[in-house]
Amino acid sequence: MKSLRLSFFLIILSAGISGQSLYVSDLKCEHRQDPAGIDVRQPRLSWKVKGDGNSILQTAYSLRVATDPRFSASRTIWQSGKIMSDESVLQPYTGPELKSGTKYYWQVRIWDNKGRASKWSETASWETGLFSADEWKAKWIEVEDDTNRMAPAPHFRKEFSIKKPVQRATLYVTAHGLYEVTINGRKAGDQEMTPGWTSYGKRLQYQVYDVTDLVEKGNNAVGAVVGDGWYRGSLAWEDNWGIYGKRLGLLLQLRVVHTDGSETFVVTDESWRVNNDPGIRMNDLYDGFVFDATKKLTGFNLPGYNDSGWKKVISASHPYNLVASEGNPVRKIEEIKPLRIFRSPKGSLLVDMGQNMVGWVRLKVSGPRGTVITLRHAEVLDKYGEFYTENLRDADAKFTVTLAGTGEEIFEPKFTFMGFRFVEVNGFPGTLTSDNISGIVVHSDMTRTGTFESSDPLLNQLQHNIIWGQKGNFLDVPTDCPQRDERLGWTGDAQAFCRTASFNYDVAAFFTKWLKDVMLDQKPGGEVPDVIPDVLNAQDATSAQPSAGWGDVAVIAPWTMYTVYGDRRLLETQYPGMKAWVDYIRNKAGDDLIWRGGSKYGDWLFYHPPVNNHSEPDGYTDHDFIATAFYAYSASLLAKAAKELGNNEDADYYSGLFTRIKDVFINEYVTPAGRVGTNSQTSYVLALMFNLLPEELRPKAAGFLVEDIKSRRNHLSTGFLGTPFLCHVLSANGYTDVAYDLLLQKSYPSWLYPVRMGATTIWERWDGQKPDSTFQDPGMNSFNHYSYGAIGDWMYRVSAGIEAGKPGYKHIIIQPHITSKLDFSKATLDCPYGKIASGWERKEGRITLKVVIPPNTRSTIKLPVTKPEGVLENGVSIFAGKPEKSKEPDFVVIEGNRGITIERGSGEYVFEFTE
Ligand code: BGC
Repeated sequence: MKSLRLSFFLIILSAGISGQSLYVSDLKCEHRQDPAGIDVRQPRLSWKVKGDGNSILQTAYSLRVATDPRFSASRTIWQSGKIMSDESVLQPYTGPELKSGTKYYWQVRIWDNKGRASKWSETASWETGLFSADEWKAKWIEVEDDTNRMAPAPHFRKEFSIKKPVQRATLYVTAHGLYEVTINGRKAGDQEMTPGWTSYGKRLQYQVYDVTDLVEKGNNAVGAVVGDGWYRGSLAWEDNWGIYGKRLGLLLQLRVVHTDGSETFVVTDESWRVNNDPGIRMNDLYDGFVFDATKKLTGFNLPGYNDSGWKKVISASHPYNLVASEGNPVRKIEEIKPLRIFRSPKGSLLVDMGQNMVGWVRLKVSGPRGTVITLRHAEVLDKYGEFYTENLRDADAKFTVTLAGTGEEIFEPKFTFMGFRFVEVNGFPGTLTSDNISGIVVHSDMTRTGTFESSDPLLNQLQHNIIWGQKGNFLDVPTDCPQRDERLGWTGDAQAFCRTASFNYDVAAFFTKWLKDVMLDQKPGGEVPDVIPDVLNAQDATSAQPSAGWGDVAVIAPWTMYTVYGDRRLLETQYPGMKAWVDYIRNKAGDDLIWRGGSKYGDWLFYHPPVNNHSEPDGYTDHDFIATAFYAYSASLLAKAAKELGNNEDADYYSGLFTRIKDVFINEYVTPAGRVGTNSQTSYVLALMFNLLPEELRPKAAGFLVEDIKSRRNHLSTGFLGTPFLCHVLSANGYTDVAYDLLLQKSYPSWLYPVRMGATTIWERWDGQKPDSTFQDPGMNSFNHYSYGAIGDWMYRVSAGIEAGKPGYKHIIIQPHITSKLDFSKATLDCPYGKIASGWERKEGRITLKVVIPPNTRSTIKLPVTKPEGVLENGVSIFAGKPEKSKEPDFVVIEGNRGITIERGSGEYVFEFTE
């Protein structure tokens, strides 16, 4: 008995020692989990360190990579050996050259500062795409006479036979247009809107799918439907269509590896057949989807289907521009059930999804053959409760089906999407119930990384609206809006929102992809077009008149991504584009250093007083002021990027340039009394944020900004460019209270005004719907525009207090800004190293701050207390066992009356103190 107990004890002990308490999780390759189809030759691997105890730091790691998930010796291609390093994010594979079309398995093990070693991690993988053009055996296929707008979607098919047992089947596919591939009746993968949207003329993505389960020994059939999408469909207003081409096409290659190692290829070529008179009568991004079920080509993707009436395809050759896809796949993410089905005062049958969403409707219906049902989509109802679509401008956003009359039929559109909360239903046979209709939410499938919550329900609704604005506008590219005849990758909106976006979701892969198009679409002189992919200069490839605050996305977004993900390669890749943009302005501004004529849009949609009330000035900011301020800002970020990349010459040059611009700026736009620009809020905000004032005038300028806010009874007057920085400037200059006044302001113009009006997403305009429920100009009035949602950044970073100290949050700063206007404010962020949390709560005059710091990071926690003596950490005085007011690292440093600063490693900490 005794020895039994002893050995039990030993087993437990050895489990601890052998490393169970230290382990690795969340393996990622190039920011993605087990990516299929990447063409990065030296992919980078990331993992999260997990383990018992506090202050864990990785001291070393070891990687192994094999073409076999069992890591057999003969198929292990690389062992890194023990690398003494605390890096656990984006570590490059440096083994032998990778092969095309191959799946690689990898594992990592780590050692930590407590002398522990982990076991090998779970196995993760990546799969390479096709590295070179000659690996494509497929030919582009097209339909001979198909060059019409909004034509039925061609259906392609091919039968093939597989003679030997299948070990693995992999599909490589792309299209001119959008595609959906089915094999033996089953869809390949679960992505939507493929191949996604890139600057098609320069690069077109293909996708790679493991279709082993879909291919059988014997007879098989592959079917593909191609829709118009961004390639041929309506795009960029005014009846524009066919911007990339008028002829749809398909390029598909199926590679079957047999158990004996031999291969069979099925590729698009002249042997394929096509039918362009199918059930999908029309599909268009703006106008919607028309489906006639009486014409549905049932079974076309099964073997044995009679395609004798189908036509031959033609083959085509196009310049090779294929790249593996690198963003987050677009998927159906969730299904929403209607909140209410009702009749409007005028009698329209309406469905309220309860949420302004992006995607489409799923309709379940039984009715006689030939019944036509039409669904229209709207974001809002007008003041009379009627369906309102004027703000969609020329986008029809209609979904029409004709029933086959075969019993219960289920319909969903494809190759399009709608931005809507309300659906108007016409022609429904029988009574429409919530069983018949639901909303399918579609967007880039990004991992949710952040949460923010406070004691104010309106503020929580604002956070909800920011999240939904991001969902709706992160559909493969960051768009301005998802509903009207626009839906473009507006650069100004993206630069304003990208930091907030990085809190809510992991957007590393999303921006890696899009930023490449930003650079590719830059013109030879460095101009950055207003929208990316650039569809507004389709006729003129050489020049585009750019705009300050928009073109700066080329610098701001890469720098932001580097800050939050620590992705140096992204910074390196984008660096030439960053520099080209600043150099473009340099040429324009010349020796004068003031960029005249550089801002087309100014501080877009800044506050204008209502016509009847001229007591307040509007928020106008001078355009050349804006252009010059952004010039300086981009030059300063470029200098930082150059320094980070070890390019000292550039770093010196551009920081010198910044200083020269600053001097000229002060001379031109700043009075000795500290008045700035046009005296607008945005004038002060940009000058303070971008460090464009003499040190001694900063307090004065901040004072004038506050004066203006107060004169407007705590209201903002900023537009797209000033708004993202407004609260940051206030809190950084000692006016946190004023920032909270603005954030919590309920009347127009403010962030909470739309919330009070029932918004479920962020509006394009501060007054999209006016207090009397009438609408702003329908020519430009989106109810789902994320730009003003950029306040989310302040909520996470300042209110709850999670800040990146070093790129990728390797060092974290926790600095909550506590206010008497809230009882609590808390946020979490799953950063590249793991979960960070910071949340404060007030109870009976005492503040409790709960902090979580992930392993393999360090943090500096700043507590807003003047007297450190009463501070408790995990229930014990922070001085317990330490010499009074110790200044040792890892303990307490007293910083005048600004609070105390504590250095901590990973762990969970609860601090209690009195403000
Ligand atoms: C878009 C904006 C964009 C702006 C440029 C609008 O049509 O919706 O969000 O940034 O144009 O001024």
